[in-house]
Amino acid sequence: MAVREVRPGVYSVGAIDWDRTIFDELIPLPEGTSYNSYLIKGSESTALIDTVDPEKTHILMDNLDEIGVERIDYIIANHAEQDHSGSIPAILERYPEAVVVTNAKCKAFLMDLLHIPEEKFNVIGDGDELSLGDRTLRFILTPWVHWPETMSTYLVEEKILFTCDFFGSHIATSDLYAKGNYEVYSGAKRYYAEIMMPFRAAVRNDIKKVEVLDIEIIAPSHGPMYKDPQFIIDAYKDWTSDEVANEVVIAYVSMHGSTKRAAERLAGALIERGITVKVFNLPTADLGELAMALVDAATVVIATPTVLSSAHPMAIYAAHLVNALRPKLKFVGIITSYSWGGMAVQQLQGCLGSIKPEVLEPVMIKGNPRDEDMKRIEEFANEIFKKHEQIGIIDKKSGGE
Ligand code: FEO
Repeated sequence: MAVREVRPGVYSVGAIDWDRTIFDELIPLPEGTSYNSYLIKGSESTALIDTVDPEKTHILMDNLDEIGVERIDYIIANHAEQDHSGSIPAILERYPEAVVVTNAKCKAFLMDLLHIPEEKFNVIGDGDELSLGDRTLRFILTPWVHWPETMSTYLVEEKILFTCDFFGSHIATSDLYAKGNYEVYSGAKRYYAEIMMPFRAAVRNDIKKVEVLDIEIIAPSHGPMYKDPQFIIDAYKDWTSDEVANEVVIAYVSMHGSTKRAAERLAGALIERGITVKVFNLPTADLGELAMALVDAATVVIATPTVLSSAHPMAIYAAHLVNALRPKLKFVGIITSYSWGGMAVQQLQGCLGSIKPEVLEPVMIKGNPRDEDMKRIEEFANEIFKKHEQIGIIDKKSGGE
């Protein structure tokens, strides 16, 4: 339980989840997370912005008790996902006068996911305002900063923008504000990569919509708030831009070491050519780290042995992940190790249908790599270097010449 006053009459009343280790049964949370909820007292009405995961409803309730909240008029639902909306039914039960304020899409989702009755909603549109008396909430639809119904809420008089997942980070911290931007940068980038990267063009539009506001604080519903909004806005502009970096992600799986030797040789050869390399051994890799590495990389190389005539399932998983996250990468390389044949290359190419990168000539290695195979890996590194040179991303200062 921890209530903090952000501004007079504006409170942080959410919950820190120090123990959570996975989200959506998919995304590792190495730093836990938080479900931020904010209470705003106006001269006439009180609003609660987002709630918390149902597991933490009791903390939200205790926090509301601590500041003596007897009435809530509006529950603002910026996003229907249950980590923010899941406590709405409990809040409605305790504060029966409250209505849920959200957009039409979010209302439909909340009715499906939480069975909230239709009469409990007040539907708003893009740019609409809601008066709390001496304070005003303005709603800005920011679709696809996770789901299609996501929106942000701007507290006009205090210049606070409540953004839910947008600009958030899965970080459990007692810090109310991001302290030293470096600490939050990678958490925020990781979160962007995991849930927003597939919708990069939409996110770019959302940034344009919110950056015209006069913002003093960005208050997301995961992780710390930002007193320096431009820092996180600029980071998002960078991640969502079309610029790629002189970086190669190598994602590999190896059963008896042949593929590992090829992947390691490629990594060494690329490093010698001044290219930044991020290597992931798929069976033990953190998917969030892999997603984060995909935000900037110009090239991804997937290296796999052949199992029952197929690419290894972990390699197929990685290819599906790349396809689903739709990073802005330009080139894909494939290395396969085989003994008597197989369809690994065609399979992996088939998994990448939605991103359509340029697929480089694959390197197929029969058995344990021999000297001539290692030479082909060196040539493959040369090819990647040339491709990076062609698109103008070789940084000569970092050793690319
Ligand atoms: Fe934090 Fe998309 O929910």
